[in-house]
Amino acid sequence: MFTPRSFPVDRPRRLRATHGLRRLVAETDVRPRHLVLPVFVAEGLDAPRPITSMPGVVQHTRDSLRKAAAEAAAAGVGGIMLFGVPARRDAVGSGATDPEGILNVALRDVRAEVGDALPVMADTCLDEFTDHGHCGVLDERGGVDNDATLPIYGTMAVAQAEAGAHVVSPSGMMDGQVGVIRAALDEAGFRDTAILAYSAKYASAFYGPFREAVDSQLQGDRRAYQQDPGNAREAAREVALDLDEGADMVMVKPAMAYLDVLRRVADSADVPVAAYQVSGEYAMISAAVERGWLDRERTILESLTGIRRAGADLVLTYWATEAAVWLDR
Ligand code: PBG
Repeated sequence: MFTPRSFPVDRPRRLRATHGLRRLVAETDVRPRHLVLPVFVAEGLDAPRPITSMPGVVQHTRDSLRKAAAEAAAAGVGGIMLFGVPARRDAVGSGATDPEGILNVALRDVRAEVGDALPVMADTCLDEFTDHGHCGVLDERGGVDNDATLPIYGTMAVAQAEAGAHVVSPSGMMDGQVGVIRAALDEAGFRDTAILAYSAKYASAFYGPFREAVDSQLQGDRRAYQQDPGNAREAAREVALDLDEGADMVMVKPAMAYLDVLRRVADSADVPVAAYQVSGEYAMISAAVERGWLDRERTILESLTGIRRAGADLVLTYWATEAAVWLDR
């Protein structure tokens, strides 16, 4: 047998030998408080409705949503992010600004359920509420009209704050949206309502299952306002602009295909940074697990660890409550 002339002096394996040693030197941890649960609530549903491409995720009724919020709070999850699915849509997304619109009603429900124990966040975007499925209102040529959309976002954010949202979360990628929302909130007396800006949001194929989750009416794509997947420097610019306009936290979305962007943002931003493990990431892992190709719990926890390691303070994930329970064992 071959005998090496020398043996390694450096032996990183020493610190991997036992569970205790590995735990002692772990550089990254995922705690329940790091996780934010995105949820869908649909108007006029009698029973929760499964989302086929996201096994285990449902469109909630108002009642089932309250239960899910209570469970998330009990599991120690860091926050909950609400998306509304209205029964009727129109060109300007009226359901978004109506205090009786499903998202605003659900925010009041959830806030009544969890109080201040669980930060309640609201998606501030028109796409679920418009009959054309775009994130803003359209101009006469069918493009998304940035400046005509801004005041609607302002009104929407105020309605959400009135309904009890601790955090509003503009995700429409309109230029100037954070500044307009901050001004509208302040003017309405909601100086303490925080803004989590979807600063670096890419035009991503990984949102596919979300379209089913919110019964999206979208024809075409969002490439005229969401970022090109190849651009990272541009994400830094978007983050800088949002911070300038008053964002309290920033987000990179999706997560797993954009970890370098996340690292770059985390290294430069002096606010908490969130990453969104989106519907397609959920679907991809779920499908492989269903086939027996991946181990469910290990894969999910590894994905969350990787996103944390890349710099996310917060991770939005549809597995938040379940993962929080595992992490607390
Ligand atoms: C827009 C919005 C989207 C998602 C969150 N907010 C869809 C889009 O931009 O097309 C996607 C989330 C996911 O895929 O899990 N309001």
